[in-house]
Amino acid sequence: MSDVLVAGGGVAGLSVAWRAAQRGIAVTVVDDAPGTGASYAAAGMLAPVAEAAYGEEPLVALSRASLALYPAFVAELEQLSGEHLGLRTAGTLLVGFDEDDARALERTSAFHLELGLDAARLTPRACRAQEPSLTPRLRAGVRISGDHSVEPRALHAALLAAAAAAGVDLVRGRIGGLVVEGGRACGLRLTDGRELRAEQTVLALGAWSGRLPGVPAGAVPVRPVKGQILRLRGEALLAGTVRALVRGRSVYLVPYDQDRLVVGATVEELGFDGRVTAGAVLDLLRDATEVVPGVSELELVETLARWRPGTPDNGPLLGPSSLPGLVLATGHYRNGVLLAPLTGQVVAQVLAGEPVSGPASAFAGDRFSTSTAREVHA
Ligand code: GLY
Repeated sequence: MSDVLVAGGGVAGLSVAWRAAQRGIAVTVVDDAPGTGASYAAAGMLAPVAEAAYGEEPLVALSRASLALYPAFVAELEQLSGEHLGLRTAGTLLVGFDEDDARALERTSAFHLELGLDAARLTPRACRAQEPSLTPRLRAGVRISGDHSVEPRALHAALLAAAAAAGVDLVRGRIGGLVVEGGRACGLRLTDGRELRAEQTVLALGAWSGRLPGVPAGAVPVRPVKGQILRLRGEALLAGTVRALVRGRSVYLVPYDQDRLVVGATVEELGFDGRVTAGAVLDLLRDATEVVPGVSELELVETLARWRPGTPDNGPLLGPSSLPGLVLATGHYRNGVLLAPLTGQVVAQVLAGEPVSGPASAFAGDRFSTSTAREVHA
């Protein structure tokens, strides 16, 4: 029997499993197809500043703390796995296409400056000096030197290898439910009839986390937020990430090594609708091409739809839930890849019985549970 079961072998679940195993905890990860969920579609932006939104200052602090862990996290994983994670530190450029977009960008950068974040306004000419593939029609730009990117599929492969090397067991099976006995989570039931038991169970099922049979109603307030995203191949057009406002719509372009470019993403409250729609592909490609005309020459190699795990405050759920024995590593919404190092560190700490301090303490796993729900399971 393992000390800890981790439900979900995406970037979050594996980061937790790996860090917990490094502490000597016996960990089993359960997933029927690891790395095919949100981790597979993620663009890999490490963008605490560009993703910063009004009222989300605690999330910005959390994201910045995780970004600070990234260089060492990547170096350790690359060394352990032999994978190249494609960490890009060329920064991020925010650009506004028309006058209204430029005004919106000005408001965003005023907010960045208010928070003391590193964001410098650039003229359109200076934007093009940095990224010559940009259209000359831009109206405004902001350079965010500290926002980077990584290749999420390579990150996932490296985490799988590192977790295995640290002694994590991987059970490939479909999870049917949480086993709850005497008001306590005791493990996982698989759809093939197997039952796996552990002292602590970590829920890292992304957008599905709140729907696992056995999870008490309301204990894991995670909803699916659909994102459609494209992968293209061809001439390398950009050195770093470009995020644009084009006639009020957001689009981002993230370059990878081997001449790949990711263009994303829609944000849709449509439940688990997995369709890639013609309209979304049209919007993304039109907006991306307006900003970087060379995109029209690239080969469209993948169109994907997946679901971000959204929470009521857009922040993750990290640590004990209201159900004893159930620990959460979910709800990362738009920041799953960025928050992976911190999630691994913090949840492994929790599993080892250590207190959580710093920015993660604002994102406790049970912060949305009512006191009644807590009492019921106490
Ligand atoms: N972090 C990018 C997205 O969620 O689309």
